[in-house]
This record gives sequence, C-alpha cells and structure tokens, in this order.
Amino acid sequence: MLGNFTYCNPTRLYFGKNALEGLHEELPKYGKNVLLVFGGGSIKRNGIYEKVLGILKECGKEVFEDGGVMPNPTIEKVKEGVARARAARADLILAVGGGSVCDYAKAVSVSVNCEEDVWEKYFVRFEDVSCKVVPVGCVLTMVGTGSEMNGGSVITNPAEKLKVGHVFGDNVFPVFSVLNPEFTFTLPKYQMVSGIYDIMSHILEQYFSGTDDNTSDYISEGLLRSLIRSARVAVKDPLDYEARSNIMWTATWALNTLVAKGKTTDWMVHMLGQAVGAFTNATHGMTLSAVSMPYYKLILPCAVAKFARYAVNVWEVDPSGKTETAVALEGLKRMEAWMRELGLVMNISDLGATREMLDGLVGSTFIKEGGYKVLTKEEVRSVFLASFKEE
Ligand code: NZQ
Ligand code: ZN
Repeated sequence: MLGNFTYCNPTRLYFGKNALEGLHEELPKYGKNVLLVFGGGSIKRNGIYEKVLGILKECGKEVFEDGGVMPNPTIEKVKEGVARARAARADLILAVGGGSVCDYAKAVSVSVNCEEDVWEKYFVRFEDVSCKVVPVGCVLTMVGTGSEMNGGSVITNPAEKLKVGHVFGDNVFPVFSVLNPEFTFTLPKYQMVSGIYDIMSHILEQYFSGTDDNTSDYISEGLLRSLIRSARVAVKDPLDYEARSNIMWTATWALNTLVAKGKTTDWMVHMLGQAVGAFTNATHGMTLSAVSMPYYKLILPCAVAKFARYAVNVWEVDPSGKTETAVALEGLKRMEAWMRELGLVMNISDLGATREMLDGLVGSTFIKEGGYKVLTKEEVRSVFLASFKEE
C-alpha cells in the first residue's frame, strides 16, 4: 500500500429485508422538519413511499415533499430543491430513490446555506463546502452508483452540455442509508443491468491503475467475481434475493472509497460516459458499457500485465501456453461476452449519440491522469468513433 491516506466512512448502513426499521433509530437523532426527496413516482407505485411516510409520521416529523427528481438531475432542479429546503427549514433531507435522488439530495444539502452560485462553486471550481451542511439520509431503491455511502454528487447542466461529478468529503456522506434488496425488485431489467455495469465500471476504474502489489486490487477481484456470478443469476431471475442482495452490497463497497485506497484510479470510462450523458441524457450505466470495450482495447498495450492478471484472477482464463497479450485479450473477450449476455448497450448510437455530436463529445470529455494512459483529444475521438454502431 503506497502513499499516505486516512480512511473514515461515517455512513451507518441498515441492510436486509428489515432495513427500513432502521429509520426508527435514525430519525429521532434529527430535528422535526424533514425534506422528503424522491424521483418520478416509482416509489408511489411500489408502495415504498407509503411505508416511509408512515414511519416519518410515527416519529412525529413534519414532512415537506420534493418529488420529480429526474434521472441525471439538473442544476435547475437543485436550485428548486434549495428553495424548498430553505422554506421548510429542513433538519434532515431524506432521499428515497436511486443514485440520482441521493446525488441530488447531497447537492441540495451543501447548497442550502451557501450564498454563492453553487454550479460555479462546486461543479466548475470544485471548491470544498464552506457552509453548514444539512444531513442527508437515504433509502435506496436502485443499485449501482454507491451514492448511498459516498460523497459523490453528479449534476447535469443541460445548457452547457456538461455532466459533472463533485466528490465531496465525508462531511457530505449520507449519515445513514437503508439498503433493502427487495426495494429494488420493481426495477425494470434495463435499469437493473445498467446498475450492474455501473458497479463493474466503478471497480475497474480503480483497479486499472498502478503497478504495485496492492491489497485494494485483491479486494476488487473478489468483488468482481461476486458481481459477475450474481449478475448472471439476477438476469435470469430478477427476484432471486440472494443474487440481488449480493449485487446491492457489492455496489456499496465498489464506491465507498475502500478499494481506492493506495490507488491513483483511472475514471476515464466515466469521463467518456458522462460526455455521452450530457448530450443524450442516456442511462448512466449504459453510457459506460457503450464506451468501455473501445477504451480498454486502446489502453491494453500500456498495461498488458494488469489486463492479464484481470483475465486470470477474474475471468478464469488459463494462461498456460499463451502469451501475456493473448491472455489479456481473452479476458476482455470474456468480459464482452458477459456484457452481451446481460443485454448491455454496446454502442453510443443506440443511446442517441450521432456523428454530428462528435466534436461536442470530445470537447465535453475531461481527461484524467491516474490510469495507464493519458489520452490525447484525438484518442478520445477515436474511442467515440469506435463506439458508434457500424454502418
Ligand atoms: O424517478 P423514479 O420514478 O424513481 O424512477 C427511477 C429512474 O427512472 C427508476 N427507479 C429507481 N428505483 C426504482 C425505479 N423504478 C422502479 N422500481 C424501483 N425500485 O430508475 C430510474 C433510474 O434511477 P436513477 O436514480 O437515475 O439511477 P442510478 O441509481 O443509476 O443513478 C444515476 C445517477 O447517479 C450518478 C449518475 O451520473 C446519474 O446521474 N452517479 C453517481 C455517483 C456517485 N454518487 O458516486 C457515481 C456514479 O458513477 C454516477 O455517475
Ligand atoms: Zn458510475
């Protein structure tokens, strides 16, 4: 483990079929006014809204609602939420939904007491929070982002065609999160597999960096093996509790800072995917699956040994009698087959991206330097070009 780091994760998790009961323990710790944040209505259709509201009432809370948080939440909606939170004098923001709702709740929480332009402060200048943060609790209904146990908040600015993530410190992590795998059973299959690939990508973004022997990589390989297995089960039977609960727990550990320890981390797949998201508003995990193969094929020659290790330890490729490059390529081949088995989107054309957007996509892609290759703008262009459907 190279480097110096601190590790602290302040989020208390309640996991399992009875997890919602955790609200009885958590809610009394905060003041009376609760801003209940949710998305486009799935929680009203599947009964989660009623259950949460019931417990809020039992705990004597004054509930103020802020619904209609869209997937890939916008900065305009954040400003609306800030106004609601101020009017409510919110003591706690309770996010009930997926990553979008949790991310949005965090963006509101750091903005309620901020006098500055929050887009400029947090998503352009990437400044730290300098005001009082309103605590956020989450009841998770969609698995993938890890937002339930991290400081990430990804906000879209449609006018500027930018989708930007700010990773806040542990003062912005949710104070608690409720993880009941059954709450994810009503997710459409498209969303479920998109979330599964988001988890995969989070682990790989951290794994594909560095050349030292690092405990984080061994943890990542274990998480990946569990994910690959459970994804295969869940895609055949989405109501398999064992598989769905493993996926939910893996998602949390994939992006709660643990496996990043001692790593420089890459995040280029996310930068490419977020550019696609800014232009198309496509589902996050699918933007990642659509660009991954061209990106990994591009960087593989810069990290053959690591890709070969990935092939052997994660995809069970037998290395005997093969060159390191052949082993590495076989690993990617097995990964691609798994992606197709799950029904992931494998090109950006299917997400609405067009060749007319190419210049814009390249321009909106932030270049990161922690991975195995620092991409030039031309290489970014080549990844997008390879991600279009063949004509
Ligand atoms: O809005 P509702 O009606 O609730 O419907 C949602 C939404 O349409 C639906 N859904 C959620 N739970 C459901 C359900 N439908 C039926 N049954 C349920 N139980 O699913 C749709 C997608 O939800 P969303 O929250 O957008 O998905 P996800 O959890 O993938 O979040 C995506 C957002 O998180 C950001 C992404 O960029 C994107 O904006 N990310 C956040 C990260 C973080 N905080 O660290 C890291 C990630 O890399 C990611 O960038
Ligand atoms: Zn992601």
